[in-house]
Amino acid sequence: MEEDVVGTIGNIGSMTGKDGVSAGGIELSGPTKGRYVEPRKEVSTPTRLTKFLCLDDFEISAQRKLPRQIFGYYAGAAETNQSREANRALFKQYAFVPRVLVNVSERSQRKSLFGHVYDAPFGIAPMGLAGLSTFNGDVVLAQSGASENIPAIASATSLAPLERIADEGQSRWFQSYLPGEDARIEAMVDRVESAGFEHFILTADVPVAANRENNVRAGFSIPLTPSLRLAWDGLTHSRWLLKTWFATYYKYGVPHFENMDAFRGPPILSRNVVRAIGARDQLAWRHVSLIRKRWKKTLIIKGILAPEDARLAREHGADGIIVSNHGGRQLDGAASALHVLSEIKHMTGDFTVMVDGGFRRGSDVLKALALGADFVFLGRPFMFAAAAAGLEGVRHAIQLLKAEIDRDMAMLGLHDVNEISGDFIKRI
Ligand code: GLV
Repeated sequence: MEEDVVGTIGNIGSMTGKDGVSAGGIELSGPTKGRYVEPRKEVSTPTRLTKFLCLDDFEISAQRKLPRQIFGYYAGAAETNQSREANRALFKQYAFVPRVLVNVSERSQRKSLFGHVYDAPFGIAPMGLAGLSTFNGDVVLAQSGASENIPAIASATSLAPLERIADEGQSRWFQSYLPGEDARIEAMVDRVESAGFEHFILTADVPVAANRENNVRAGFSIPLTPSLRLAWDGLTHSRWLLKTWFATYYKYGVPHFENMDAFRGPPILSRNVVRAIGARDQLAWRHVSLIRKRWKKTLIIKGILAPEDARLAREHGADGIIVSNHGGRQLDGAASALHVLSEIKHMTGDFTVMVDGGFRRGSDVLKALALGADFVFLGRPFMFAAAAAGLEGVRHAIQLLKAEIDRDMAMLGLHDVNEISGDFIKRI
């Protein structure tokens, strides 16, 4: 006889449910239905992944595996890292107020977004240079998202051509960095459309490159400047050197910025990179109207923090926004998404408002949903999972987060993730 909840729930990752959701003693099947069952040995998580119990665990492993410059680029933010740290700290200012005794034996965390039903309320944020995290990293992130039925956004600064990310990775979300030049914008929109993407994301918070002193201190620059230190860091990370750098070079040649424009960009070791990025500081709301006329599918603007800009995004025809301070990587001291979320929701009503920045736990995701977010994106943890264990690592990270959300939903008294509201949370 099955019992709703029996004893202590085992370690996350000790088993994988029928639909691939790893949830310790929880079997998840169908639309993430929850029911506690004894862990079954035959479907256990691969041994090399059992040490990863939460998303933060991947960062430790990634730091060991990656050359200092590459890890420094992924982990670092701008200037004093103030916004990156604020993103994390803010979650502690909210506490849950759960409901009890409501029979939560059936739970669903499925979320509908722009006409597609995803298996979880979170996705993979766009991240630059994922191709240096593991072999074919840009495609690996996309494939992981597709196989777990969550969105994975291909980045403009990816090193695989967006067509390959769409074909091999089944990604349907593309994030662009556009110069404020009409002809280049139109050509890029056409390219993204021909590749089969369905969601076009315009990044609005990068008019100029950020001041990433910590990248410089870690020896990272764009272009990557060959130096003795870089060579040494490569040699002392021989597995990465062979399996990521040389494997990439052997199969695809020197990685290029493939997706900054309608044409192939310069190699990452080239001195022309900065010039090739174009005049992004000229980008303005009139370009949103230009894109809206040409792009018939979902249009999203990323990097909004001011409620007034959220209103303008809607007025210019966007279908949704990602409220974001770019993981603290752009304007140091910029507000976090959670700071402004309620105000933006209040101003924009039923407009689709997604968030990113600092999410590491299922409880973080649920806090944002309680504050009114429609969907959450996470970046760095999935990059670190790719570096730590490739495709299986990213899938495991996704499964860990799904399991955390499922467990937290039960303890909050939620049957459906869409039931969460401000009643479940308190500012402390
Ligand atoms: C790229 O988008 C970055 O933030 O480094």
